[in-house]
Amino acid sequence: MLASGAALGLATVASGARAQSSQSVTTAGSSGTGARRLGSLEVSPIGLGCMAMAPGFYNPPPAREEMVRLIRDAHELGVNFLDTAEVYGPFISEDIVGEALEPIRDEMVLATKFGFSFNANGGYAGRNSQPDHIRQAVEGMLSRLRTDRIDLLYLHRMDPNTPIEDIAGAVGDLISEGKVREFGVSEVSPETLRGAHAVTPVAAVQSEYSMLERLPEAAMLDTCEELGVGFVPWGATMRGLLADNMNEYTRFASEDRRSSVPFFTPEALQTNLGVVALAREWAQRKEATPVQIALAWAMAQRDFIVHIPGTTKWPHLVENRGALDVSFTSEELAELNTSLAALPVVGNRPESAAYENQ
Ligand SMILES: NC(=O)c1ccc[n+]([C@@H]2O[C@H](COP(=O)([O-])OP(=O)(O)OC[C@H]3O[C@@H](n4cnc5c(N)ncnc54)[C@H](OP(=O)(O)O)[C@@H]3O)[C@@H](O)[C@H]2O)c1
Repeated sequence: MLASGAALGLATVASGARAQSSQSVTTAGSSGTGARRLGSLEVSPIGLGCMAMAPGFYNPPPAREEMVRLIRDAHELGVNFLDTAEVYGPFISEDIVGEALEPIRDEMVLATKFGFSFNANGGYAGRNSQPDHIRQAVEGMLSRLRTDRIDLLYLHRMDPNTPIEDIAGAVGDLISEGKVREFGVSEVSPETLRGAHAVTPVAAVQSEYSMLERLPEAAMLDTCEELGVGFVPWGATMRGLLADNMNEYTRFASEDRRSSVPFFTPEALQTNLGVVALAREWAQRKEATPVQIALAWAMAQRDFIVHIPGTTKWPHLVENRGALDVSFTSEELAELNTSLAALPVVGNRPESAAYENQ
């Protein structure tokens, strides 16, 4: 699958823009601003993750009005793919996205995720993807998102008490009713993807994938290719680490999620900064920034990869979008992959933990 090559008419980004060499073999992203496909959806290859627009993730989020404006500015820049979830807040990110989308809904592709129960105060009450609960969750989403359909509805985390076939069947029913256009799954194993896809065709898998977290290369990317399913990495900028603004002395406030992420312990940072140094080296070589190298590297791996880097800041949005102007020849990509494979990384989840309950 699936690079359509159909132009979206995306705006050229000043940051890092440069002419494409006709010799460049890139990789999907490299073809500049061409759209990619997730099932029937045509999306900009770099979308926008809206998780941290709700409090409780990384930096304290800016004011709601600023986030509404950022989403509309992203649309002006040519970004047409937004990622949110019921659990972000909970409900706050979807609510912001819903407000932002009101004047531009038909021009945007909207993805959200279900999979959890909440108590009356909005507190987390465990995983729940029982069919009745999915239906109820989707009604809440449609209301918060101020829309009559969700373009891409993901299972956020597998519910160990509900068979994947039942979950896929419930989403299939919602597709038949027109409330949902495409089905996605997040952080599942290749086997669970196959089980879901056999019941309701899956348009996209969403999982952590970056220059530091390469587990999807073990089997998931091949499975996606075989089934014609798109792949949407989260964490592709490594929660900002690959954006080059951290060093071995970086520490996080206890309310910042990164304070408990194994990649960011003081010991892990010492090792993992090797990958950042590699991204920095390639950034100089390609007249780009390290985060643009990180995003372009992932898009170069397969032509069905679509990014959703999370940001709350306009300069970062522009910088991330500028990764579309970075291309690698096949020789360069092989060289970068070889250098990367030689670098140790500390903090990866073991496969068994990554696929737990999946
Ligand atoms: N399916 C899942 O289980 C799952 C899990 C996590 C996230 N997600 C989705 O994936 C999206 C992206 O993931 P993520 O937000 O965890 O990770 P991310 O995109 O790797 O990192 C976001 C962090 O990087 C910073 N950042 C982004 N661009 C930057 C730049 N150019 N320069 C410097 N810092 C930059 C952001 O800060 P600023 O705000 O300051 O730019 C934020 O702190 C989320 O928004 C969410 O929609 C899905």
